[in-house]
Amino acid sequence: MRVLGIESSCDETAAAVYDASHGLIAHVLHSQIATHRPYGGVVPELASRDHVKKLAGLVDEALHQAHITKHDLDAIAYVAGPGLVGALLSGACFAKSLAYALGKPGIAVHHLEAHILAAMLDNPDVAFPYLSFLVSGGHTQLFVAHAFGEYELLGETLDDAVGEAFDKTAKLMGLAYPGGPTLAKLADECPEALKNTMAPFPRPMTDRPGLDFSFSGLKTHALQAWQKSDKTESARFVIAHAFQLAVVETLLIKCRRAVQQTGIRCLVAAGGVAANQALRAGLQTMMQDCDGEVFFPRPEFCTDNGAMVAYAGYCYLQRQQVDADLHLNVRARWPLGQGTP
Ligand code: KG4
Ligand code: ZN
Repeated sequence: MRVLGIESSCDETAAAVYDASHGLIAHVLHSQIATHRPYGGVVPELASRDHVKKLAGLVDEALHQAHITKHDLDAIAYVAGPGLVGALLSGACFAKSLAYALGKPGIAVHHLEAHILAAMLDNPDVAFPYLSFLVSGGHTQLFVAHAFGEYELLGETLDDAVGEAFDKTAKLMGLAYPGGPTLAKLADECPEALKNTMAPFPRPMTDRPGLDFSFSGLKTHALQAWQKSDKTESARFVIAHAFQLAVVETLLIKCRRAVQQTGIRCLVAAGGVAANQALRAGLQTMMQDCDGEVFFPRPEFCTDNGAMVAYAGYCYLQRQQVDADLHLNVRARWPLGQGTP
């Protein structure tokens, strides 16, 4: 059984093939960073147009890499939400047309579920129930995953998502879009002598019970620190380090609380920010300390990619969760575990 997966929910166009016997046999990706960089953020209309331009070529490339033709596919999976509606429609339209032409099922995949399932590409034995921790550019959410498709929300951000806070903090210090990974790199490379030369940043909402998050205050704190600084490279290092430390510690406090509250000792972290090395290391230590275990997708599959869609599509196909008709149903907002697109 082979499933083609297509990702087009935001600013990456990607295609991959998952094979039931051989695992992931192809994955290709085109990033739109250069297209959006002059505007300092994603321009939805440009994103949609670029997906339309790149999809056919990327799918051909994935099939070539997998040494198969489109007739060897058993299903075509695509992301139906959440995401930018025009970007989602570009992928859905392409995928459903291809599925129809081949007489194979189309599969509408939930983007966030695909992020979580990406951890199982390398760790297929993760068993339910587990805690799933989604940290991306649009979401910061803690769930109990009871079963496939059954997610109980424990807490989420009340304002900015953690990836968004990374990106906005990077932008206010003049770092080019997308600034999140650049900010993380500065934090990791901060010279030892500069660390802790600034008062620690707050750990938002850790002094009250519950599992919700808030990151917009931390971003404002970073802005004030930047404005008060001499705006040199050293100031960037210090602020990036203090910011990342505060974010990671906040996330660790909430995850530990979720483990204590639920008694579940298996955590799956996913989404773009799960590529963050300080967070990965912190979660490893914290879960060991709790006699538990943490699983992540490999870093390249934490950010948006086609592999997670192909694998999620394969999981949906095993459960016969395929499109019932040819309608192009996509949802810009689609809470995890709540209905179909
Ligand atoms: O999952 P993703 O590719 O897209 C969404 O579905 O949102 O996540 C992208 C987000 C961006 O905000 C980006 O800045 C952040 O993930 N990100 C990181 C790192 N790599 C990506 N944030 C912190 N450290 C990183 N290493
Ligand atoms: Zn994503």
